[in-house]
Amino acid sequence: MAVTILAIESSCDDTSVAIIRDGYVLSNLIANQDIHMSYGGVVPELASRAHQANIVPVTHQAMLKAGVIAEEIDAVAFTRGPGLLGSLLVGTSFAKGFALARNIPLIEVNHLQAHVLAHFIFEKDKNNRLPSFPFLCLLVSGGHTRIIILKSQLEMEVIGNTIDDAAGEAFDKCGKVMGFPYPAGPLIDKLADVGNISAFKFAKPHIKGLDFSFSGLKTSFLYFLRDKLKEDPDFVEHNKADLCASLQHTIISILIGKVVNASLQTGIREIGIAGGVSANSGLRNEMRREAEKRNWNLFIPEFRYTTDNAAMIGITGYYKYLRGEFSSHDVTPLARY
Ligand code: KG4
Ligand code: ZN
Repeated sequence: MAVTILAIESSCDDTSVAIIRDGYVLSNLIANQDIHMSYGGVVPELASRAHQANIVPVTHQAMLKAGVIAEEIDAVAFTRGPGLLGSLLVGTSFAKGFALARNIPLIEVNHLQAHVLAHFIFEKDKNNRLPSFPFLCLLVSGGHTRIIILKSQLEMEVIGNTIDDAAGEAFDKCGKVMGFPYPAGPLIDKLADVGNISAFKFAKPHIKGLDFSFSGLKTSFLYFLRDKLKEDPDFVEHNKADLCASLQHTIISILIGKVVNASLQTGIREIGIAGGVSANSGLRNEMRREAEKRNWNLFIPEFRYTTDNAAMIGITGYYKYLRGEFSSHDVTPLARY
């Protein structure tokens, strides 16, 4: 019997709904919220209101695109957290309502676990190459920077974590200083492509073990720009590409340095990246170079499964469904999971 999962993701500013059947994606739709761009970050109250407006039409479209009717859905998976409480509440309430109306199981999903499990999404007519275990994954998103060992789809151990900002925040906050709209990561990526990585030097943190820190880099970038802007008010405009390339290069070398150490310490060479920042072309290319040099079996997700999406929630829900890990209807969202 095929297992069909309706998956809901609403942890931050994207409303996403996916239909997954036996691990294969039938549809994965995302409604972005452009409203936050001009605010320099996500405004929680606006995000939850937009989720309320989007959730029904996006679900309807996802079901149409998948060619699936409500009666064919076996379970509803939803992001329980971490994320913005008001946003999570919309997805959680909708998931509960759907599950209750259809009398089918409800499956809570940890958003971070789902980012990593994006590597297990199957697509029709694709060479679906899957990592084997133990699998070492760098999770880099707007809110988290972690090195995780996966022992099975549902067993994870965090061996490295950020002690302050996440890598995505470093991109977004430095971008904000340069006057870029939120989120700045994709624009920095684009501009870095035509810039010089050695044009400017920014301090790299010295954090012991496998943990990360990005707040010092953000501060050093801010002070560097403040001094330069005194000399030339158009400094950013004149040096945009070089600033982006140098900043991006610094962030990538911090990230990859820790992944290399993690691989050497654990002996694991089954390596992947996940989360919004794993869309970064510089990081993807550097990881490929490192993998070749170190003989890693490297896994880089498709772009559409790097940033927030419901397909990753659906695949995690699928594995939980197979293990019978269901939630009760008094489950509440968690800002921190
Ligand atoms: O995983 P995600 O969509 O949301 C969270 O769970 O946080 O990650 C969003 C983050 C943002 O900080 C955004 O700037 C960053 O991912 N990002 C990128 C790129 N695309 C998205 N950072 C660098 N380069 C990119 N191409
Ligand atoms: Zn995310």
